[in-house]
Formats: sequence, C-alpha cells, structure tokens
Amino acid sequence: MGQFPKDFFWGSSCSAYQVEGGNSNSDWWEWEKQSGVKEPSGNACSHYEFYENDFELAKNLNHNAHRLSIEWSRIEPEEGKFSTKELEHYKNVILSLKKRNITPVVTLHHFTNPLWFAKSGGWENPKSIDYFFRFVRKVVEALCGEVTYWVTINEPLVYTYYSYTIGIWPPKVQSFKVSRVVNNNLLKAHIKAYKAIHDIYKQSNLSSPLVSIAKNLQVFTACRSTLRNKLAVYLRNKFFNFDFIHKLIKNNALDFIGINYYMRGLVDVKGWGLNNLLLDVCKEGHSKLAKNSLGWDIYPQGLYDFILYFKKYNLPLFILENGICTDDDSARWNFIRGHLLNINRAMETIGVKVIGYLYWSLLDNYEWDKGFSPRFGLVEVDYKTQKRRIRESAKKFAVVCREGQIN
Ligand code: BGC
Repeated sequence: MGQFPKDFFWGSSCSAYQVEGGNSNSDWWEWEKQSGVKEPSGNACSHYEFYENDFELAKNLNHNAHRLSIEWSRIEPEEGKFSTKELEHYKNVILSLKKRNITPVVTLHHFTNPLWFAKSGGWENPKSIDYFFRFVRKVVEALCGEVTYWVTINEPLVYTYYSYTIGIWPPKVQSFKVSRVVNNNLLKAHIKAYKAIHDIYKQSNLSSPLVSIAKNLQVFTACRSTLRNKLAVYLRNKFFNFDFIHKLIKNNALDFIGINYYMRGLVDVKGWGLNNLLLDVCKEGHSKLAKNSLGWDIYPQGLYDFILYFKKYNLPLFILENGICTDDDSARWNFIRGHLLNINRAMETIGVKVIGYLYWSLLDNYEWDKGFSPRFGLVEVDYKTQKRRIRESAKKFAVVCREGQIN
C-alpha cells in the first residue's frame, strides 16, 4: 500500500488556450486561420465562461490543487496596453479555486503568444525577455496576494522543438541555430522573471513564492545498441532532458522542479548528421509497450527513474502534468495508478520530496495541431453542447485524492 504525505497536492492541470475558447489576439488563433487547420480551437471548452462549474467538478473529485495558465494575449492584447478587465477575470478565476480550498498553480506562458509579440519576432527577438518580464510584473503585482506557486514557462524545449526545430507550430521555423537562440532567450526570460517574482513578494511583505518551470521529460531508449544510437540517447538526454534545469539551478532560479511526464521514445538513428542524432526515431515498431491514442509509449517506470535522477539537486519535485489520451477509460485509470505507484516507490526508496501530482487534464481539450480528437480529460466534454461527464477513472482517482494512498 502506498501512502502519500498528508499535505500532498492532488489535482489536475489545464492551459488557457486549450480550454478557454475565443483567444483571438493570440498567434495560435492567427495561425489556425492561415494554415487552415482541420479543427481550429474556436470555443474550446468555453472554460472562460464555465470555470466556476468546472472547478466545482474538481472540488467534487477531491482535488486540492489546480494548475491553470494566464493567456498573455488577453492581458496585453496590444504592445504595452494592459487590460484591467482581464486581470480582474483571472483574479476571479483564482479566487474561485481558493474559495473551494483548491490551491492555484499559475503558469505564465503555455505555448501561445500575443500576436503583436509574434509579429515583433517572437522568442527570436532579444527584446522578448523584456517583453515577457513586463507582462510577468503586471500579472504578479495583481495576483501575488492570492498565489504561492508560479510556473514561468511551460515546456520550453517542447515549444522550441515544435515551433523552431521541426517547425510544425507557429512560427514554423526549421533551424537548429534559431532553436538555440530561442532556448537561450527562454532561459534568460525565466531567470529574469524568477527574480522579479521574488522581488515583488518581498516588496509586498508576502512570504516567499515558489517558482519553477514545467519541464517535459522523455525517456529515450536505443532500440539497437549501436554506437550511433548510444550517442543519440546521450545527446537527447543532455539537450532535451537535463541541461535547461541544470542551468537554472546553477543560477539559483528554481524553488522546486516542475515535471511533466508522458512517455518513452525509441531512438533509432539512420546517419551521423545532427538531424539524425537529434531527431530520428524508430519507425519499425520495435516497441511492445501499450500506447496512448497518439501512439506514445506508456512507461511509468520512467517517472521513477527521473525522480531518482533529480534527487541530487535537493529540491522538492512537483509533477505538474502526467496523462494519457485514450478512448478506453480503463487504460486511463491503469495509467494513473501505474505512475502513482512509481512516484510512491521513488519517495519511499530514497526519501525524495515530491509535493504533488497533477493529472493532465481536468477536461478533454484542444490538443494543438491534433485538434479535439485526443481525449485526455478526467471529465469528458461534448463540444457541441459543452456538457461535461465525469469519467470512471476520475472517480477512482478521486478516492486516491481523498485517502492519500494508492493500492
Ligand atoms: C503540454 C500540453 C499538452 C500535453 C499533451 C504537454 O506537453 O504542456 O499543452 O496538451 O502535453 O500533449
């Protein structure tokens, strides 16, 4: 029987663009129009309107924490013009969680940018760091009284990978050189925001906030033990999984390590080029593991291994995303259970401090370029009627959240 600490955070995550609907000042909205995607985000889950209802569902599922993001393009729809109405909206959203005793975990950047920011060169532009800093200050000054946990940037390397390396997300660049520039800017943006957030709390005489990023981690496994594959695994671990966190720790810019974990990927490299070493994956179906509906390998043991790896930094870990898209809800429960057992085993074996587990996602939502068909939610959404239906897996997870233990 796996027991979790009494003060453990249990809950789920969402991001603004994926659930709110109507984010028409964002670069993604424009890209959906221009690239003619099959399924634009449209009203998404209308969560902008129905957040009270959705948080009531979370409360009834015994969640005591919830991760949300603030849509920058709502707060600053034009450069330097901040909307007090939208700041007020997010304050109400946060208060709506708090009145239900659900701790908010607030993300400041989750893949989308204001259109003006994208037009000014986005994250390639060295000014992006100051633009982000200005936005962060506005938001944190408005919300600091209500929030302790902040996530500056969601999955910086996933963002860079899709938008600047393989270029299937806006602004659709395909360049390692630009990817490097963007990564560096994201790194600097976090460090600057981290300091600003702490300063604001000090000046306001509030106790220290806890600030991190959400780092996506992926297990890379060579499907054939060749020198090339081993080198590829080494490089991907270094550049994708570990370097970013390592640099932030060296800069004293993390109060906990936020982890998003979904999958294992099999590495099978067809050449010695950088492209091959960093991007080639196995296309021969060598993996025998169960998969989610997008074909990602399910590998709960990987989370155990990462938790052990991060012990060396002596910081609390917070699982900010872990989830499965599937049409088979019993697979969702197996997924959650398998990962919780591994988290618990890691905590018991080496005494590492994990402070919470947030499932991705509370609601079925807009899965970026994949549209609405991948179903990640604890709660099913009928996009035509906006009706919600609680899945069985959500009820089983609710028991874990209430009892603080997994069997
Ligand atoms: C992202 C989410 C996304 C989820 C499932 C994470 O990488 O933060 O926005 O929906 O994965 O793909």
